[in-house]
Amino acid sequence: MSGNRTFTMIKPDAVEKGHIGAILEKITAAGFKIVAMKYTHLSQRDAEQFYAVHSERPFYGELVAFMSRGPIVAAILEKDNAVEDFRVLIGSTNPAEAAEGTIRKMFATDIAENAVHGSDSDENAVIEGAFHFSGREIF
Ligand code: PPS
Repeated sequence: MSGNRTFTMIKPDAVEKGHIGAILEKITAAGFKIVAMKYTHLSQRDAEQFYAVHSERPFYGELVAFMSRGPIVAAILEKDNAVEDFRVLIGSTNPAEAAEGTIRKMFATDIAENAVHGSDSDENAVIEGAFHFSGREIF
């Protein structure tokens, strides 16, 4: 059993297409409790910082431009084994390879605009949650 919290963003493509409600429904139906949430916007600088770990990858500029082009929903989710279980729920990075019923299979556009983010480790879940939320915004 790993930690019990993960961090997610509903990305600009899914917000633009009106999928916020359906995605939150999938998340809560899968047993995740929302302990922090906000409708917000990443500036270009915010997105550069959030994705700094990917700065050497060829798609970094495209990823930063996409993630800062419109509003997002940021949230911290609680459930046993949260990081791993949430990554199963969202499916593969590339929606063409994602399993049926996963959030990316249902709502993602393509590998670059893939509807949702999920932390890849307990350590990064803490770092990413703290990027968006202060302690008194987490319940
Ligand atoms: S992961 O989740 O870290 O294992 O996935 P990874 O493949 O390493 O991708 C890291 C983030 O980069 C995004 N990504 C891309 N953006 C644009 N173009 C291409 N080709 C591309 N490939 C991957 C991917 O959606 C990941 O974003 P997050 O927000 O972490 O899901």
